[in-house]
Amino acid sequence: MAGRHKVTVVGAGNVGATAAHWIAAKELADVVLVDIVEGTPQGKALDLAQAAPIDGFDVKLIGANSYEETANSDVVIITAGLPRKPGMSRDDLLKTNSDIVGQVTDQVAKYSPNAFIIVVSNPLDAMTQVAFRRSGFPKNRVMGMAGVLDSARMRCFLAEALNVSVENVTAFVLGGHGDTMVPLPRYSTCAGIPVTELLDKATLDAIIDRTANGGAEIVGLLKTGSAFYAPSLGAVEMAEAILKDKKKILPCAVFLEGEYGISNLFVGVPVKLGKNGVEQIIEISLTNDERAALHKSAAAVQELVDILEI
Ligand code: NAI
Ligand code: 2OP
Repeated sequence: MAGRHKVTVVGAGNVGATAAHWIAAKELADVVLVDIVEGTPQGKALDLAQAAPIDGFDVKLIGANSYEETANSDVVIITAGLPRKPGMSRDDLLKTNSDIVGQVTDQVAKYSPNAFIIVVSNPLDAMTQVAFRRSGFPKNRVMGMAGVLDSARMRCFLAEALNVSVENVTAFVLGGHGDTMVPLPRYSTCAGIPVTELLDKATLDAIIDRTANGGAEIVGLLKTGSAFYAPSLGAVEMAEAILKDKKKILPCAVFLEGEYGISNLFVGVPVKLGKNGVEQIIEISLTNDERAALHKSAAAVQELVDILEI
């Protein structure tokens, strides 16, 4: 990955276009934005390219409706998918998005056989498993973004409750990206002090609940879509950790093979990201209750994976 980096973002909607924006503003890589809608990726890439002289970021931005331009990308972020529409069941959406992510992955694997894939499309953990199975890539090169977002939400709420800078706060969230996710206050800190020493149980419980429902809170406010600023930056933080070989520990959905007592399933756990992608899965000790909550969350992901038979 020497020299200029190249990142493809598939899906030029809210999350995808904003990811392209963050990548460009950080001057992280040249960006190819791909979408099935004619004109959308081209228009957004051109608009961003015209912002470059103002801010002074020196990256190339291209929009496309096919994958030739994406060839040999270092990282591919998949945000393609449909939102749930009236009359559509959760299973209908699951199947539709799994078809989309599957087709996208075929193209990604064909044109960028050495890429790292970061999936954002929902339902996140199951869609990451689709990309893993369809690409045939090794497990260190396929991962899902959710924990970075969920823990950022928890950090935001903790900092607000403590009236401190968000920079002082770390937070850990394990499990699948859904309302069964497992925010862990015991491993969340403010300037190194466990937040369990600083906030009472009722306040922490309210923060845990708000974190687990963080996506729905924003959908409720926006009404016509879901969150995209923080989700896109979460994916870009993962891409940056890989491209810069940062050895950064982040919660990501990765393929577990016995870690935490979970097998053959993508679930969010802390991992080290560097130039080889997922370089290490970090197992932290959990109380019986925390472990049971993680297993309940994994079971919710397993249900979706079973429906898809992947
Ligand atoms: P959006 O509707 O704004 O954009 C989705 C884009 O995907 C659209 O432009 C659409 O044309 C495109 N698309 C559909 N099929 C495609 C295909 N076959 N190839 C290429 N592009 C295709 O949606 P938004 O807000 O950008 O969200 C994208 C996905 O990310 C959704 O599934 C959403 O639920 C998920 N999401 C996941 C989060 C996470 O934490 N993992 C957080 C936020 C969103
Ligand atoms: C979120 O958590 C919708 O998954 C998306 O905001």
